[in-house]
Formats: sequence, C-alpha cells, structure tokens
Amino acid sequence: MKKLIVCAKESGNTHKVCRYVASNLDVELKVAGKTTMIDLPSYDVIIVASGVYLNRVHKNILRWINSIEKDTVNPDTKVYLFLTWFGRGESDEVAFNEVKQLLRGKGITLEDNYIKCFGGGMGVIKTSHPDEEDCKNVLSWANEL
Ligand SMILES: Cc1cc2nc3c(=O)[nH]c(=O)nc-3n(C[C@H](O)[C@H](O)[C@H](O)COP(=O)(O)O)c2cc1C
Repeated sequence: MKKLIVCAKESGNTHKVCRYVASNLDVELKVAGKTTMIDLPSYDVIIVASGVYLNRVHKNILRWINSIEKDTVNPDTKVYLFLTWFGRGESDEVAFNEVKQLLRGKGITLEDNYIKCFGGGMGVIKTSHPDEEDCKNVLSWANEL
C-alpha cells in the first residue's frame, strides 16, 4: 500500500502534523508549492493536507489540483483531506466541499471521512495546537486508510 501526503507548504501547523505522520508511518510527504510533478497514479492512498483560510484550502493546493490532468488518477486510488483550522463555523466543511468539487472535475473522488485538528495562530487563537494528541489522532487516522 503506497501512501502519499501532499501538504500545502513546507512550514506551519499543517506541515508540522504531516511531518509527524511521515516520520511514524510509511508514507511519502511532498509539498504542493515545491513539487511540480507528482506521479499520482503510483499511489494507492493520497492525503491532501492544508490549513483553512477564509473557508478555503491554501492556494498551493488549489493550484496543484488545477494542474492535475483529468482522469489520470486510478479510480481505485483513495483520496482524503486533512485540515488544520481555528474551528471557525463551518469553514472546514466549506473548504472540504470546494476541494471535493475541484477533484471531481479531474475525475477524482474525495472520500468523505476527512480529518481536522486545531492549528493555532495570530498570537492568541488555539496557540497550543497542534499538540501531541492532535498529531497522534491524525497518525492513527492515516494509519487506517
Ligand atoms: C488569513 C487566515 C485565514 C484563516 N481563516 C480561517 C477560517 O476561515 N476558519 C478557521 O477555522 N481557521 C482559519 N484560519 C486559521 C488557520 O486555518 C489555522 O491557523 C491553520 O492551522 C493554518 O495552517 P498552516 O499553519 O499550515 O498555514 C485562518 C488563518 C489565517 C492566517
């Protein structure tokens, strides 16, 4: 079972959790903003990882999805979403739905069981996250995929 995480960028809360998962599980970690070509058909499981910014995933992920050639991903490949966020309203669901729709346009089904954890920022909000428990939860989710 070959697994891949495509993270929006190489720093921040989301990348911190992705690094933890990649160092504890047999999974490759790539950064959407840095990698031009990812051989998607060679993976059985692909996890797309991003923070939520005003209801959307990071622009690097949006660009990366745009760059995928339609119908090149094997229909048996399972694609999942991992989000970090402050916990604002339903912004996670809005971001998930946009990614689902964009991927659908590329002939890819985004699985419904996405995972999210808090990611602090702006000096005051949820600054203790992601913590070790968050990392372990995401690891255990990724391990089951
Ligand atoms: C400009 C900006 C917009 C944000 N918008 C949202 C939002 O709509 N909903 C939410 O819950 N969190 C929001 N957040 C919080 C981020 O999703 C959270 O801090 C996340 O962990 C950032 O991921 P990163 O460190 O990998 O970039 C926002 C943060 C920033 C800086």
